Amino acid sequence: MSSTRESTESADRSFVVVASRLPVDRVEGPDGHPDWQTSPGGLVTALEPVMREAGGAWIGWSGDAGPAPGAFEADGLHLVGLGLSENEVRHFYEGFCNATLWPLYHDVIAPPQFHRRWWEAYVTVNRRFAQAAAEQAAPGATVWVHDYQLQLVPRMLREQRDDVRIGFFNHIPFPGYEIFAQLPWRRQVVEGLLGADLLGFQRRADATNFLRACRRSVGLTTRGSTVRVREPGGSREIQAAAFPISIDAKGLAEIARRDDVRKRSAQIREALGEPGLVLLGVDRLDYTKGILHRLRAYGELVAAGRLGPRPVLIQVASPSRERVEAYRTLRDEVEVMVGRINGEHGEVGYAPVHYLHQSYPREEMAALYLAADVMLVTPLRDGMNLVAKEYVACRNDENGALVLSEFTGAADELAGAFLVNPHDIEGMKDAIVRAANTGPAEARRRMRAMRKRVREHDVARWAASFLGTLSGDPVADQQAWEPEAS
Ligand code: F6P
Repeated sequence: MSSTRESTESADRSFVVVASRLPVDRVEGPDGHPDWQTSPGGLVTALEPVMREAGGAWIGWSGDAGPAPGAFEADGLHLVGLGLSENEVRHFYEGFCNATLWPLYHDVIAPPQFHRRWWEAYVTVNRRFAQAAAEQAAPGATVWVHDYQLQLVPRMLREQRDDVRIGFFNHIPFPGYEIFAQLPWRRQVVEGLLGADLLGFQRRADATNFLRACRRSVGLTTRGSTVRVREPGGSREIQAAAFPISIDAKGLAEIARRDDVRKRSAQIREALGEPGLVLLGVDRLDYTKGILHRLRAYGELVAAGRLGPRPVLIQVASPSRERVEAYRTLRDEVEVMVGRINGEHGEVGYAPVHYLHQSYPREEMAALYLAADVMLVTPLRDGMNLVAKEYVACRNDENGALVLSEFTGAADELAGAFLVNPHDIEGMKDAIVRAANTGPAEARRRMRAMRKRVREHDVARWAASFLGTLSGDPVADQQAWEPEAS
């Protein structure tokens, strides 16, 4: 439990994070009053040291409809909670963010919906975040804005505060121009982003796509990774480059090394009846994650007996965006398919799929990763996919195999994975069989290479590289990945 207290300080922060979510969850305190508990996300782990050193502020939404929680301190971090009305949750969060931008930016796997009312809510809520940032930032402060929910904030903030240095990082893919061009407000979005000094993307291809959107939708000229914009006060150069995000690899490896976690992992295998093969999928229940494709491949392998006797797939699908239509439909489809596989291939005392529509703490996740012989990460499109990196970080024993979609950012980095195209069911089946039958020496060689990459490129390095580049440090700049030639 965190120690929280309301804060009345007037703001003068030299470092400000602006993200759609606060790094805390609302919980019930000991006296029955609402309290806050720090959520152990990678972003807060990475930024916490910078926040503490700079006495920074984190601006975000609590995740519930209702009045703004306002400014408060939680575990020594200065947080500023903004409020969204019930209508704004519908139109901004569920609507424009998650039924327009999310499917559009993920290769239109689901059809994006374009509604003017949703766009208006997006503008209104982005203005609220920009206003809060302008109020918190000290003269000359660094402000780091995160993700697709807040793409208009950089421009809105610059209009009020041209003294601050603004960075923006997009955690999800940035689509190719032919797809992005569908957005009726494409020009406003590009102009919103160009309020920043530095734009970070997961992959080089995302930065390249953004630079193309600058040329095509705003008519700007780009040179290498920079765009020049003319503004009333003169012209300004903006850099767009790739900074692949990562995880707290050391912290997770330490959790996986704990006796209680290793014991729990053995318990999991025991509870499953000590199967010959345990496969694992861990995802938010989202149509971008390729869960149905994975289940189809697995179901056919079980039917054909290609995974040996009584294999088990544990599929953790954490609840997400449950009021958005496409997510409800997906849940129904996944549950039908799980039921079908278990119905057709299960027996009394044996279910081929263990489906868990729940979220778990980090310790339980680490135990699951340790229990899995083969990890299945098969998104149809994913900005990075941190689950793949988490699996690797937990495998201190250098065992286990990773089957990874080539349509994830992680595929650029994890060369030891068995890469798959999740649309190619036969190819995916073969890759799963190969992963399950890899000899110990080859498995170790693959895992070692992936662990080295994740250890050396952790989330702290990601944050340092982005912030260093934003502050003009030439060494940090060299770590940024330039966009592809287009
Ligand atoms: O990385 C994509 C992202 O949308 C984050 O911005 C977000 O915190 C996470 O996925 C979970 O989504 P949501 O905030 O909609 O629950």
